[in-house]
Amino acid sequence: MKIDILLGLQWGDEGKGKVVDVLTPHYDVIARFQGGSNAGHSLEFNGVKHVLHLIPSGIFHKDKINIIGNGLTPTDNLFISKKAHLILPTHLLLDKFLEEKKGTSKIGSTLKGIGPAYTDKSGRNGLRVGDLSSPDFDNKYADLIASHKDLLLKYGFDFSDTLPELETNWLNSLNTIKKFKFIDSEYLINEYLDNNKTVLAEGAQGTLLDVDFGAYPFVTSSNTIAAGAFTGLGIAPSRVGNVIGIVKAYCTRVGSGPFPTELSDSSGEKLRKNGFEFGSTTGRPRRCGWLDLVALKYAIMLNGITEIVLTKADVLSDFESINICTGYKIDGKIVQKVPFDNEAVIEPVYITMKGWMKDISKLKSYDEFPPELKKYIKFIEEETNVKISIVSVGSDRLATIRI
Ligand code: GDP
Ligand code: IMO
Ligand code: MG
Repeated sequence: MKIDILLGLQWGDEGKGKVVDVLTPHYDVIARFQGGSNAGHSLEFNGVKHVLHLIPSGIFHKDKINIIGNGLTPTDNLFISKKAHLILPTHLLLDKFLEEKKGTSKIGSTLKGIGPAYTDKSGRNGLRVGDLSSPDFDNKYADLIASHKDLLLKYGFDFSDTLPELETNWLNSLNTIKKFKFIDSEYLINEYLDNNKTVLAEGAQGTLLDVDFGAYPFVTSSNTIAAGAFTGLGIAPSRVGNVIGIVKAYCTRVGSGPFPTELSDSSGEKLRKNGFEFGSTTGRPRRCGWLDLVALKYAIMLNGITEIVLTKADVLSDFESINICTGYKIDGKIVQKVPFDNEAVIEPVYITMKGWMKDISKLKSYDEFPPELKKYIKFIEEETNVKISIVSVGSDRLATIRI
């Protein structure tokens, strides 16, 4: 069996959680492979909305195995890789301090400790879930906390009020983590595949936040692209089947960094209001703008996307006209590539399509779609050369239409 990978093709919050929940009945195992509690994946059924930060979005289906791979971590059907790194209380404080130090050039981090924890991972100082079973754990923990404190003190960051409570909560939470089964995810997942089990790897964040290929430094600290699944789970590229890209029918971004199609007018406000675009993790208002095909084609190339799931099409229902960005005008020239320079002044080149001006949230099949929506879908397919396999028209599980 091959493993399928599902990930976001924009700046996160494309609706990955909802789509994973919908697809889970087709898989035996759902595995998160990177990132940490900076993620907020929402899904909704029976009128109740659930937001998951670390736990894979297959968790609400009976008899499915859910795995947290080598990203960062917190019953019977949730396994955690021994090689997942732990986010320490001082990682949270370092994140806050380093972000404050950046002043106006701040990243807009979720402040969940992701950057400092990945720094320790790469610097070979980190503590992993598997270390929790080691007799040496307390010493290793004390050493790492002490080195973080030294750093904070050196810069005059006062943690006397905040750290004690953070540490107490963190140490208490270890009792909960220890109830889960710790696994060698690389062996287990490859064995599942050998035994004809179906596995879906669930990405967090989005391709344009990738630490290597996003607009660095306005990125997260992990590889959010398909390649992240290989290192995050211990599977080889030849094991991969479908790579499913989740795309919102427009764009949003939380935090700082380039966003060529951002709208600061009433249309942007309308997208935010219609789509309820507020962060699932931080509650911050999301920046909103039109769909950007230059960025989307870049994301499709980086991931080898085999099918697209288009989400939140219902949010565009009361727009008389809809813009799609088909090129970037930089220094008077129209280009089709995302520039290296974050300061580049980009004027998006748009084509304007007629909106469908019809509530589509109760529709049940593609045949019922208004012709303008069909045209919108076809245009994206033709431009990207990738088929749209599912259109999501609402946050509930049931508001999902297969094409
Ligand atoms: P994720 O991080 O990619 O899982 O996405 P989030 O959960 O952070 O953000 C997506 C938001 O849109 C959530 O509030 C979902 O409940 C909601 N959502 C998902 N799909 C749709 C859709 O098709 N239409 C509408 N209106 N909302 C949706
Ligand atoms: P999901 O999985 C949207 C953004 C932050 C910030 C940058 C760095 O729900 O799609 P970090 O906390 O990693 O230091 O923040 O990345 N960011 C996200 N934006 N969705 C997410 O996850 C995100 N996770 C991080 O807003 O701009
Ligand atoms: Mg989210």
